[in-house]
Amino acid sequence: MEHHLLDGMQSALNPQGPQAAVVAEISWLLIGGAALIFIGIMGLTAYAVFARRERAGRISALRLIVGGGIIFPAATLTALLVYSLLRTASLADESAQVPLRIEVIGEQWWWRVHYVGDDGRPDFATANEIRIPVGQPVELALASADVIHGFWVPSLAGKLDMIPGRTNRLRIMAGQPGKFRGQCTEYCGGPHAFMAFYIVADDPQTYATWTERQRQPAAAPVQKVAAQGLDLFVAHCATCHTVRGTRAAGIRGPDLTHVGSRSTIGAGLLTNNTGSLAGWIASNQHLKPGNLMPDFRHFSGIELRALAEYLESLK
Ligand code: CUA
Repeated sequence: MEHHLLDGMQSALNPQGPQAAVVAEISWLLIGGAALIFIGIMGLTAYAVFARRERAGRISALRLIVGGGIIFPAATLTALLVYSLLRTASLADESAQVPLRIEVIGEQWWWRVHYVGDDGRPDFATANEIRIPVGQPVELALASADVIHGFWVPSLAGKLDMIPGRTNRLRIMAGQPGKFRGQCTEYCGGPHAFMAFYIVADDPQTYATWTERQRQPAAAPVQKVAAQGLDLFVAHCATCHTVRGTRAAGIRGPDLTHVGSRSTIGAGLLTNNTGSLAGWIASNQHLKPGNLMPDFRHFSGIELRALAEYLESLK
């Protein structure tokens, strides 16, 4: 596999799919064109400053104003407008095969994700990490539960706002397997900067295994410490969180049925492991100030460990 300087970077100049490739192409054309014009202007400026007086009159002032100030910018901007309209029109191509549909709802300050079955019914819910199969078109239905958020995964597509009361549709397709970072790009209050997520593109086989697993309710804990964690979870966390297969069915916060299978917690903030889970539960207001989950400082170290072990076991 060919390696590239921008591998893994959250950058619009690191396209990993056809939609992002169009955005990168337009970006490079604009950057290149702007550089050429800048060089031209610098040349004219140098001429104005350094040319000998008797040569300065050779370029007529009127011609310079009409040609360089009116005709050139009008022609250039018109050409760019037509070009970018034609190129971006190809992004909205509805004729392609019926894509996989995923609903993503921006919430203060995380991402609720619903997979939609072929029959249009809800399939399963997850949060902050969206898995897609490589090489297959995916349609994201972007909505908001509260204020305006901005959905942007630069390696896969241009950005699109999530606006309360409406649904915006975004087509993406990953050209190769990988993990692509996304970020909320519309200021939505408090910890807006900590509202990140990942899109993980898997080969179709791995993706199918993952979806099959996500559909299942949570497995019953095997180890004693995880079983204690489940009891604590149902007693203290069920108002806000769901773990399918248990009595926890709260819907304010992220669905945690398979939280152990996600690579991060806190909306892309921390690597997911028992240490970060325990730290998050006890002290998330320190880690992500202003988020809507309170600190749970009353848990003992043993209780925190049990909760973290339980959550981590939810693969
Ligand atoms: Cu959500 Cu900024």
